[in-house]
Order: sequence, then C-alpha cells, then structure tokens
Amino acid sequence: MKAGSDLRADHRVIRRLEYAIRKMSARIARGEKLPPEDVEEAIGLMMEFVDAYHHAKEEVGLFPVVQGVARGEQKTVYGFLVEHEFGRRAAMRIEQEYVRWAKGEETAESLSRFMLTYADFIRAHTSKEDAWFEAVDGRLLSAEQQREVLGRFSRVEKNPQAKKEFARRVNRLAVRYSGRRGKGDAIGGSHRPTEGLP
Ligand SMILES: [Fe+2]
Ligand SMILES: [Fe+2]
Repeated sequence: MKAGSDLRADHRVIRRLEYAIRKMSARIARGEKLPPEDVEEAIGLMMEFVDAYHHAKEEVGLFPVVQGVARGEQKTVYGFLVEHEFGRRAAMRIEQEYVRWAKGEETAESLSRFMLTYADFIRAHTSKEDAWFEAVDGRLLSAEQQREVLGRFSRVEKNPQAKKEFARRVNRLAVRYSGRRGKGDAIGGSHRPTEGLP
C-alpha cells in the first residue's frame, strides 16, 4: 500500500460520512428533530476521524515529507492546510449550533447550513487531494520516502484497528440516513440498507 492509496481509502469512508451529513442537514432544514445522539456522532466523527486521524496523517505524515523533497508542491500543500483549518472551524461551529439546537433554541436553519457547508468542504477537498495523491504515488515520492510516510501514519494511527472502527461508525450513520431500513436501524424507507449509498 502506498501513502496516497491509503489516504484515498480514508476519503472513501469520509465521503460516506459526507453523504450522511448532507442527508441529516436536509432533514433538519425540513424541521425534523433528529435523535441528538446521531448529530453528536456525526460531530464526533468530524473531529475524531476526519480531523484528529485523517488530517493528522496528512499534516504530520505526508505533507512534511513531500515539502522536503518537492519544492514545487509548497503552494498546493499550503492550500490543503488552509482548507483543513476551514473544515476544523466549520466542525466547531456545527458543534456550537448543535448545543443551542439541543436546548430547544431556534437554530435549525444555521445548524443545517453549517452541516451543508461541511459536506461541500469534504466533497471539494477530497476530490482535489485524490488527484494530487496520484502524483504523490506516481512520481513525487521514492520507495524509501513512501516507507517514511507510512511509518509516520502508523505513529498517528496508534491503534491498528482505528481505521476499521471509524469505518464501522460511519457506515452505521450512512445506513441510518440512507432512507432505507436495515434490521430496524435506518430511519424510514424500504428494506435495502445499503442501496443508494456512495
Ligand atoms: Fe486533506
Ligand atoms: Fe484528505
């Protein structure tokens, strides 16, 4: 496994989270009162999985190694870092709106809007990075530099089961908001739990 492929695999899970957040945002906008634990789980995954796990792998693992060997990539990396900061702040804003919404304040419109903003950030950011990771794996890093990045990833990951555990949590939320009912888990819809999921 190369570094870019590993991060692209994270992105596939992150885009399932994006799907769930988009669906949740639409339901909140329609005035539905979603189970608070589902909104909390989505916020938890933004912070623990997208930021503290995946962005950390990029910021601590990949970006410094690429910056050390490919000076022409500085601007691209800087752009990604700025976008990470945007995502981090959007997640914090969602949490603030959620706390008010959970207390019964009229914040459905702003909570829904910030969740949609976050989903759009995920879509745009991961698609830009996916294209760049192909260059990372294809021409920017040598085999030895790839090993260096993968070693840094495992130091960020700590628990080797972390990736699977995040995927399980994301999947549960994506199925729940797919509009399909699976074993009593999804909210509304028919009997095909994964149909229509990204
Ligand atoms: Fe990123
Ligand atoms: Fe990424």
